[in-house]
Amino acid sequence: MALSHNKLKFHVRTYGCQMNVHDTEKVSNLLLHEGWSAAASEEKADLLLINTCSIRDKAEHRLYSDLGLLSDWKKDKTPRVLGVGGCVAQQEGDELLRRFKQVDFVFGTHNLRLVPDLVTAALLGQRKAQIDTNKNPDRFDFPERHPDFEEKTPGRAFVTIMEGCDMFCRFCVVPLTRGREISRGWEAILSEINSLSRKGVVDVTLLGQTVNAYGRHDVKRGVMVKKGTKPFSDLIADIARVEGIKRVRYTSPHPMFFDQGLIDAHGSLPELCPHVHLPLQSGSNHVLELMRRRYDRETFGRLVQKLRESRKDLAITTDLIVGFPGESDLDFEETLEFVRDLRFVDSYSFKYSPRPGTPAKGDPGQVPAEVAQERLERLQALQGDLTLSYHRERIGSRTEVLVTGPSRKGGSQWQGRDPYNRVVNFTRGADEPPVGELVPIRVVEATPHSLIGEAFVPSVGLNERESQ
Ligand code: SAH
Ligand code: SF4
Ligand code: F3S
Repeated sequence: MALSHNKLKFHVRTYGCQMNVHDTEKVSNLLLHEGWSAAASEEKADLLLINTCSIRDKAEHRLYSDLGLLSDWKKDKTPRVLGVGGCVAQQEGDELLRRFKQVDFVFGTHNLRLVPDLVTAALLGQRKAQIDTNKNPDRFDFPERHPDFEEKTPGRAFVTIMEGCDMFCRFCVVPLTRGREISRGWEAILSEINSLSRKGVVDVTLLGQTVNAYGRHDVKRGVMVKKGTKPFSDLIADIARVEGIKRVRYTSPHPMFFDQGLIDAHGSLPELCPHVHLPLQSGSNHVLELMRRRYDRETFGRLVQKLRESRKDLAITTDLIVGFPGESDLDFEETLEFVRDLRFVDSYSFKYSPRPGTPAKGDPGQVPAEVAQERLERLQALQGDLTLSYHRERIGSRTEVLVTGPSRKGGSQWQGRDPYNRVVNFTRGADEPPVGELVPIRVVEATPHSLIGEAFVPSVGLNERESQ
């Protein structure tokens, strides 16, 4: 099998969240193990996969406009294979094969491991959609990184620790596209991280749709030992002890699943990054209830306070939705006020988008598009101010960045991420900064979207520079 694919090349287009980015990595790695190689561009590819997102209407429609344009891509060369995966694939299944003749196969979010078989079938002329759910933890098993696997950011890696979501917030399609919560055994997680560390990874991001719900069903059923899971904060502590791992992050947590162990971990584990992405969605209790978020603003506010008590420099970012059905002007004002009070370092905000199969789709009180747009702009303007003032507070401070590469601006500008997950553009010293490694930086300037810093030449040392 491996030899027959020797000269064939693949490319993946990825939309959506970090889980999708990581799924693309898993599929790409599988294909490399099957003898495929990565194409330098889509034009050079024999196999094109589209890894789709369905979180908002716009994301889903992206796929349909892409597919329209890809009819020509298929005709330009034979044989060419086109596969569609991810959340829209899981949602639509066979329907995609029916509507789009150019699509050869569809793979759901539980079926990444079947991609090589689906490609082989497609090359034999069989069109298939595989969207069965798989409750077996074997779906977490993937081969180690192939020698030709090219990581997007050297030194950094995603590691899946759980998948799925049982929360069913009334606006959200994710429980339908990713299925029920399932946690991966801690031994497999640690063995993957050990192997990544041996390959030079220093910064790991633990992934899951509700990542801090890790193992919670096993605790409730009294089967943690049998299922090989452990409390999330214990897992983080184990990972922080892995030799070579200097930074641990996790995304996305749900505010309901912060126990004292996790809050304390932020104060006691130096490897656990001082950044939490903590989705709020709305600052109005009325809207939070309509959304079925299962917390109110008081509980959320107390959680933020406890986290900041545990780690005083913690950077908290969030997600917000405006124009949820039933959101009044007053509700929106409450969101603005709460965001101002909590001083989020950054936020992603979205206009509510009705999704297929979700309860809120049919709710009364749908907010007119222009009202939602105006709310979005006001919220984003407020966040812009908060982010800039946070960046300004950082001027003069020292930090350490994981070097990601030369800045897009070119010249002597390089780029990295600090522990607070801020992008830092910095002027390189005499030596080329080591991509994938941590270098000390002093912040010298603030912009709305990033920090500007100066690299310390290690041999010159911090003090000499500081005293200038
Ligand atoms: N698991 C995370 C969120 C994952 S989805 C959590 O519990 O918060 C990422 C973000 O997309 C959400 O936080 C929400 O802000 C946004 N989102 C989800 N569904 C949406 C919808 N129907 N319309 C607009 N934004 C939505
Ligand atoms: Fe969606 Fe997050 Fe709610 Fe799950 S917890 S339903 S992923 S918003
Ligand atoms: Fe999109 Fe699916 Fe992620 S809907 S945001 S790719 S879980």
